[in-house]
Amino acid sequence: MNTSVTVEICTGTTCFVMGAGHLLNLSEELPARLKDRVDLRGAHCLGVCNDPQNGKPPFARVDQKLLSDVSIESIIAACDRALADREGGAHAI
Ligand code: FES
Repeated sequence: MNTSVTVEICTGTTCFVMGAGHLLNLSEELPARLKDRVDLRGAHCLGVCNDPQNGKPPFARVDQKLLSDVSIESIIAACDRALADREGGAHAI
């Protein structure tokens, strides 16, 4: 069973201007329960900032799920949900 969550933070220009820069400090802000369970990556433009239907930048993906208008707190909450979903799902044999 994969027990880590992949977090991709968009570092493209639009997201950076809208506040993504400070999100790269996420690893320092993670609560102890998530410290070893988050694979944090910076990503080039995720290609969603030009369509208002996707929401507002900055954008991030948590286990491939797109999140808009993200903050450190909303990413942490999404990581908790992703891990809870997995642990409540199928068990490894
Ligand atoms: S700059 Fe972030 S999605 Fe385009």
